[in-house]
Amino acid sequence: MQNITQNLLDWYSKNKRDLPWRKTKNPYYIWISEIMLQQTRVEVVKVYYERFIKRLPTLKDLSTIPEDELLKLWEGLGYYSRVRNMQKTAKTLIDAGKNNLPNTKKELLNLPGIGKYTAGAILSIAFDKPSVAIDGNVYRVLGRYYAIGDSISKGSTYTIYEQRMHKILPKRQSGDFIQSFMDLGNEICTSKSPKCESCPLQKECKAKKLNQVGMYPVKDKQKEKKIEERSVFLLVYKDKVAIQKRKSTGLLASMYEFPNIQKTMSTIDIENALFDKNISYQYVSPVGDAKHVFSHVIWYMKGYIIELKKPLDNYCWVTKQQLKNEYSIPSAFSSYLDYFLKR
Ligand code: ADE
Ligand code: SF4
Repeated sequence: MQNITQNLLDWYSKNKRDLPWRKTKNPYYIWISEIMLQQTRVEVVKVYYERFIKRLPTLKDLSTIPEDELLKLWEGLGYYSRVRNMQKTAKTLIDAGKNNLPNTKKELLNLPGIGKYTAGAILSIAFDKPSVAIDGNVYRVLGRYYAIGDSISKGSTYTIYEQRMHKILPKRQSGDFIQSFMDLGNEICTSKSPKCESCPLQKECKAKKLNQVGMYPVKDKQKEKKIEERSVFLLVYKDKVAIQKRKSTGLLASMYEFPNIQKTMSTIDIENALFDKNISYQYVSPVGDAKHVFSHVIWYMKGYIIELKKPLDNYCWVTKQQLKNEYSIPSAFSSYLDYFLKR
């Protein structure tokens, strides 16, 4: 066994974090945790994970839960296409007479939403099959340890890391091995101010030896995100507010939202628009600005509350209680949601 392998496994056996998905080998549970962890910090995932498996303890349960309820369970995690793909996968497997995930790379990769990373993680963690899974932690630790000069922003670099990883992968305990990168990358070999003095790899780490830790892993500069200005409307009638369902494709597909348009409007613009459309209202009043950063876009939002004299058709009118318990409003709107819930 190579030094890096032994050092990581030893370190992991003494320092591994006590996490709920490490108490099981059930592939269904490992899959849920890995999908959640791709987008969210461990501390947050813990809470969602426990609630999710309590509500949906089996693949069968996931295949049958109504979509709105499923989205509600995922509310706040973002990237909702992931949970929708999970349900697709669950349905496909259940329809094929299976009640858990398959144990080969080929079958796993054929399932919606399961790519190389997730397949590798499931195979090694749940099935103890030596497989690699490259995530940001692996890029950071290996990139530094070997001082790899290829940019991780280039797709072809994935293979370079994959090959490195294959060379050091142990035949047994590959699940522990993979997770040792996740823990080391989170606690010691962090992006900012890594704690090299406590690292089990410090003696052989090339970047450390060269005193160039900050240069690795090599990345290209990020593309600038597109900026969208939006006006968001809290249309209120008595104790209800208007929400609508987004279309089933694209950003925040099928989620509920407050009506909004991609345009900056002033109070006067809105009053004019209401007048043109013959909508009678009590008042229009600004409720503040908000910003939300998605992976490719940033929304700059201006919010308004509009108290109507009559409810408008074409919207779903809901109370505070319903908003809290039945509908999932994406976190992009959370300051407006809070505003309505507190009023
Ligand atoms: N991040 C991704 N997968 C993980 C896991 N299994 N444990 C901790 N952090 C992770
Ligand atoms: Fe990361 Fe420092 Fe350890 Fe190298 S020595 S792997 S840079 S923490």
